[in-house]
Amino acid sequence: MFNQRKVGIIGTGHVGSHCALSLMLQGVCDEIVLVDCDEVKAQSQAYDCMDTAAFLPHRVRVKKGEVKDLGEMDIIVISVGTIDNVSQDRLSELEGSINMIKSFVPDIMKAGFKGYFVVITNPVDIVTYFVQKLSGLPHQHVIGTGTGLDSARLCRTLSMKLNIDTKSIQAYMMGEHGDSQMAVFSQVTINGMGLNSFLKKIDKEIDLEEVETIVTKAGWDIYTGKKSTEFGIACVCTDIVRAIYSDEKKVMACSGYLQGHYGEENIYTGVPAIIGKYGVEKVLELDLNKEEKERFNKTTDIIKKHIKIGEKML
Ligand code: 2OP
Repeated sequence: MFNQRKVGIIGTGHVGSHCALSLMLQGVCDEIVLVDCDEVKAQSQAYDCMDTAAFLPHRVRVKKGEVKDLGEMDIIVISVGTIDNVSQDRLSELEGSINMIKSFVPDIMKAGFKGYFVVITNPVDIVTYFVQKLSGLPHQHVIGTGTGLDSARLCRTLSMKLNIDTKSIQAYMMGEHGDSQMAVFSQVTINGMGLNSFLKKIDKEIDLEEVETIVTKAGWDIYTGKKSTEFGIACVCTDIVRAIYSDEKKVMACSGYLQGHYGEENIYTGVPAIIGKYGVEKVLELDLNKEEKERFNKTTDIIKKHIKIGEKML
């Protein structure tokens, strides 16, 4: 018998439900189990997903489940949480998020889970750190979405400024998925051409500071307009899940565990990495310039400070 690819999603609000839809539409798994403290909602999301299944070229089953059912999953997506739109600061969600993961990660492990966690819950770098700690899984099997979404937003913003296709741009946001994230402009390429040389070729100038501000604020700008962000993050999640199942060795930004990379130890943060069947198989070290290195240290300082705060909440 062939193995069925089983993904659990815990938290079925805007983000979790769109992760389910994106995984279904892209044919990345065979079964999805939706878990939410609001069981009626999880059931309704499952029925809505199953109504979609009839239109897909591949078979996918989606059902409501409980935490104890997640032990047999290959991959579990953690998308619990509420956005605190008043403070517009992901760090303010730390206590609520830690309380939530404390309430289910140990039970998932007791149910026999041996797979991979993909963590979306904010503040994602710090929550990913604690999901690894609570689960005891290998660091490379616990992956945060990190600056995967911010990097897509950077490509989107540059594509609008340069009037070229987003997919022709390779660009990374690094560090905290939060206000201190940074654009690595020195390493941006447009299909092999550095940003500066590309700008010269098309005879254009752009305001890089403005680009970075647009990207950093993008989540809140979208939130202000539609009260959620959901489509982009669902696609980042799907990219990670597919990279694991298909052993893609995909190079993308995610929240990965640093062990001496960029001179940092024992934190998760947004970095480019290779993702394949072993999870984050390698964190890639970009050649940051002096100013970028300093900014990277500043953003990791914020994460370290909040890991210390989070330790007291465990
Ligand atoms: C986002 O950046 C709010 O973290 C969420 O879309």
